[in-house]
Amino acid sequence: MKAAPSSPDEPIKGKKSSPTLGPPEEVSLQSDSEPPLKKSKCLGDSNSLLDVSRLLLSRPDAVFATPQTGKYDASGLVPHYFNEEEVPDHLKKYFYQRVRYFSLYSTPPGCLLDEEGWYSVTPELVADQIAERCRCDTILDAFCGVGGNAIAFAKTCQRVIALDISTTRLALARHNAQIYGVADRIEFILCDYRTFVKSQLCLPSSNSSDSRTTERRKIDVVFLSPPWGGPSYLGGDEQGSSEAPIVRQSTEANHPSFSLANIKPEHGSGLFDLARQITKNVAYYLPRNTRLEEIGVLLTEEERRIGRHKDGSPAGTPDSTEQIEVEEEWMGNKLKAITCYFGGLVEGQGDMF
Ligand SMILES: C[S@@+](CC[C@H](N)C(=O)[O-])C[C@H]1O[C@@H](n2cnc3c(N)ncnc32)[C@H](O)[C@@H]1O
Repeated sequence: MKAAPSSPDEPIKGKKSSPTLGPPEEVSLQSDSEPPLKKSKCLGDSNSLLDVSRLLLSRPDAVFATPQTGKYDASGLVPHYFNEEEVPDHLKKYFYQRVRYFSLYSTPPGCLLDEEGWYSVTPELVADQIAERCRCDTILDAFCGVGGNAIAFAKTCQRVIALDISTTRLALARHNAQIYGVADRIEFILCDYRTFVKSQLCLPSSNSSDSRTTERRKIDVVFLSPPWGGPSYLGGDEQGSSEAPIVRQSTEANHPSFSLANIKPEHGSGLFDLARQITKNVAYYLPRNTRLEEIGVLLTEEERRIGRHKDGSPAGTPDSTEQIEVEEEWMGNKLKAITCYFGGLVEGQGDMF
C-alpha cells in the first residue's frame, strides 16, 4: 500500500490483493429503511425509464423546470445551504466539506443534498479516481444517492444507468448532474437494484437472434455503493463522515471491523453475487474497516479457478486464480473508504473485460 499523499486533497490509490481466508460470515438479512416504491418498473428498454419529474409531481413544493431556462431544477425539495448559520448542528461537519463533495457546490442553482446525501456522498476526487478505473461504455451505478459517483462516471463512460429507491435522492442526483453538465449521459431510474438485475436477467442477451424481444442491456461495469447500515459502521459515525486521521494499516486497532452482513438492503455478498450475474467487472465501495477476509471469499472456488495465472497465461488449471484489488481512498492523511475491484477492473486482468 502507498503512503498518504502530500497534498491534502489529493486522493491516491494503495492496493493489494486481498487474502482469501476463512469461511463467509453467516448471512443476516435486514429490512429496508426506505422500501422500494411500487411504482417502479425495471425493464431494460428505454420505454421503461422512469421520468423522475413525473414521479415527483405529488410534491407541490418541488420545482422541476424553471420557466426561464426549461432546465430541471429540484431546488424546492431540500434547502441549499449558503452559510453555516442555516445548517442544522448535526450536518455542520458535512457542510464544512461541501466543496470536497461537490467542487461546483455553489454553482447556481447550487448542488443539493438531503440528510442521507450529506453523510453518504462520495467525495468528488475519490469518485473521479474510481471513475477513471471504471472507464467503459455502459456502467450501472446501482445505488446512486445524490449523484457523487454517477456524475464522475458520466465523465469517463458513454452511458451511466443510475438507480435509487429514493425519489428525492434520484431527483437531487439529476439536479446535481445538470450543474456538472452531464445529466444527458445518465439514465435515472427509480428502482430497487435487486429488481433491476432480476428483470435484466430475464431478458435475452444482446446477441440473441430474436429481434422481436427486448434485449438485455449490455452493461460493462457494475458499481456498488450500498448503504453501510447507518451510523454505527465505524462505531458511532455515519457513512463516509469520520474525520479521525487513520494511521495506515491500523484501521482494525481504531475501529471494530465491518462485516458485509451490516450492508443494506441485504448482506453485501448477495448484492455482489447479483452484480456478477450482469458482469464480472465490479467495483465495490466499502467502509475502510471492512474485513478483508470477507472480500476474499466473495469469489466462489469455481470463479477463482476460471481466472488466470498471475503471469497472465491461460486459466483453467487448479492454480489459476482471479485476483481482487483493494484500493484505499485517501483524502490527505485520512483514509475515507476502500474500493474493491473485480474481473477486468483488476490490473493484469484486462482481458476479462
Ligand atoms: C451510500 S448511498 C450512495 C451514495 C452515492 N454513491 C453518492 O456518491 O452520492 C446509498 C443509496 O442507496 C439507496 N438504496 C438503498 N437501497 C437500495 C436498493 N435496494 N436499490 C437501489 N438503491 C438503494 C439509498 O436510497 C441511498 O441513496
